[in-house]
Amino acid sequence: MMEIKKVAVLGAGLMGNGIAHVCAQAGYQVKMRDIDQKFIDKGMATIKKNLERGIAKGKITQEEVVAILGRIQGVLDLKKAVDDADLVIEAVPEIVSLKLEIWKEVDALAPKHAILASNTSSISITQMAAVTERPDKFIGMHFFNPVPVMNLVEIIKGQATEDDTVKIIEDVSKKIGKVTVLVNEAPGFAVNRLLVPALLEAVFAIQEGVATVEDMDKAIQLGLNWPMGPLTLLDFVGLDTALHISDYFVEEFKDSKYRAPTLLRKMVRAGWLGRKSSMGFYDYSGETPKPNRF
Ligand SMILES: NC(=O)c1ccc[n+]([C@@H]2O[C@H](COP(=O)([O-])OP(=O)(O)OC[C@H]3O[C@@H](n4cnc5c(N)ncnc54)[C@H](O)[C@@H]3O)[C@@H](O)[C@H]2O)c1
Repeated sequence: MMEIKKVAVLGAGLMGNGIAHVCAQAGYQVKMRDIDQKFIDKGMATIKKNLERGIAKGKITQEEVVAILGRIQGVLDLKKAVDDADLVIEAVPEIVSLKLEIWKEVDALAPKHAILASNTSSISITQMAAVTERPDKFIGMHFFNPVPVMNLVEIIKGQATEDDTVKIIEDVSKKIGKVTVLVNEAPGFAVNRLLVPALLEAVFAIQEGVATVEDMDKAIQLGLNWPMGPLTLLDFVGLDTALHISDYFVEEFKDSKYRAPTLLRKMVRAGWLGRKSSMGFYDYSGETPKPNRF
């Protein structure tokens, strides 16, 4: 089995910097690429801050932090980022045309042996693999936010992904301390297939006046032992993102059971996107979140 030593991470955003962090912590040489120096600087600052939090908790030493940061190089040039990579992990925005364009470029620039992995939440692995000349080496590697904390990686097999590619990615995931599940490509993979309909159902319940926002959250949090209620979680995820996934599911499955409640669509149209717009199922403009009434 090929040994992975050098990893290129495309995107230094929320997910990209987390992926670069855990890869460098596991000993890989990492190049983290973004399109503007300011995004690279911001990503590096986040990694440093998160690592330093570990020092305060006694989980890691100052020397280790210096060594980990020393293994991450911020890069602007795509060729420089991928031309000696054994593994390229892509975490750029969830836009189909952007991902297809990037993968075509990366395929031409990366060494022939390199494995190409996308952290997409919904876009078809097979569709992205098809724009490259190595669909057998193309795979989904779906991390969860925040990456250094969340233990799971969903590994997604596209139509042409080879078993060897799966094995290598399972091995890398294990080295970075993650537990893996193998999923055959399907919309929402395994986690979002279950989570998204559950979150939508919570919104239907609010729309029908089953309970208040705070009682619905309290019921699920305490009754199902979730770390937070579904409406609080939706505000974190972003209501626009949830709506996007719901519409995508309806489109792909041709099944109305995944449809979004009118209330969710109305909130998104009003610009109520959750925490990022300070307004969603809760109002975040004050000191503490205040539940809205519907
Ligand atoms: N946010 C989540 O909870 C979550 C969880 C799992 C998977 N994902 C997926 O991860 C991917 C990234 O999401 P995110 O939340 O990190 O987004 P983000 O907006 O925080 O980060 C994306 C970064 O990619 C950069 N970028 C844009 N074009 C680029 C290019 N050509 N090359 C390199 N970088 C480029 C942007 O400047 C930005 O810094 C998406 O596919 C998303 O669906 C997100």
